[in-house]
Amino acid sequence: MLICYSGTGNSYSASKTIQEAVGGTIVDIARRLHNNNFNLTLELDETLGIIFPVYFGTIPKAVREYVSKMKISNNGDHYIYAVMTCGSGCGSAPEDLDEVLEDAGYILDAHYTLIMPNNALVFMDPEDDYTVAGKLSRAEEELEAIIGDIEDRRSGAIRTIRGNYNPADAEKNRKAYEEVCSTKLFKSTEECIGCKFCERLCPERVIRVYGRTASWEKDSCSLCMGCLDMCPQSAIIFDGKRVRGRYHNDSFYLRSIGIAMPLGDKRL
Ligand SMILES: Cc1cc2nc3c(=O)[nH]c(=O)nc-3n(C[C@H](O)[C@H](O)[C@H](O)COP(=O)(O)O)c2cc1C
Ligand code: SF4
Ligand code: SF4
Repeated sequence: MLICYSGTGNSYSASKTIQEAVGGTIVDIARRLHNNNFNLTLELDETLGIIFPVYFGTIPKAVREYVSKMKISNNGDHYIYAVMTCGSGCGSAPEDLDEVLEDAGYILDAHYTLIMPNNALVFMDPEDDYTVAGKLSRAEEELEAIIGDIEDRRSGAIRTIRGNYNPADAEKNRKAYEEVCSTKLFKSTEECIGCKFCERLCPERVIRVYGRTASWEKDSCSLCMGCLDMCPQSAIIFDGKRVRGRYHNDSFYLRSIGIAMPLGDKRL
């Protein structure tokens, strides 16, 4: 089984590739959280993959909550691994996940970093097409190696890339992430056409669209950037700023929730 959280499709795409090789089902963490369903039924020797994006060098809020409450419904010998997708490095996400899992009574056997295109375009300049294509192609190769390691049930910190990261900053980064998770920073602009795409794609179901205005109805979310990156009109701004680029992984179209991009995609 693979449990996955994904805002713009990178982690979902990695989950699909792993699933095609090792089998099992993909479980959408956000949907499970919404349904308060924390039970995971695994075969006795089945592996459990936890696949998610790194935010501010740590784990997404939704992943933290789900993993802290999850219950595996048998006592088999489960190899538990994490694949952390990120733009440049995983920071302290492995240790943070390890801690939450340990508190929940489980052991993280192995963790892997998977460098993919960066979707945090509110904090950085967009990557050019060449960089995005190069990252996606290297990620495919890396995934093949990761799948081999999963099949061999290797343990430890395997293929870990920390990026520009100082362990002394881990706590500071976690706090910075928690502080910025406020949905008050999102707004839709006059370019909104009321298509409700953001409402339907938001993994945490916090957006409602009234006429031609999107409204964020809960105080905070995991900040996956799905709404902002994928609005077909580029009509969502963050912290008063328009961003210069948008990113989503094409595999998002195939996501199990089955949302197709509306016609007339005008993303910058
Ligand atoms: C709020 C936010 C913070 C991020 N922080 C980091 C980071 O600290 N390090 C990093 O390498 N990438 C960072 N990223 C980039 C994502 O981890 C990366 O693009 C990821 O593959 C997106 O996965 P998804 O498409 O499954 O949502 C961040 C993205 C967002 C939205
Ligand atoms: S996806 Fe964009 S255009 Fe469509 S309703 Fe949401 S904010 Fe408006
Ligand atoms: S509101 Fe936007 S950033 Fe927050 S979880 Fe929903 S899609 Fe992601």
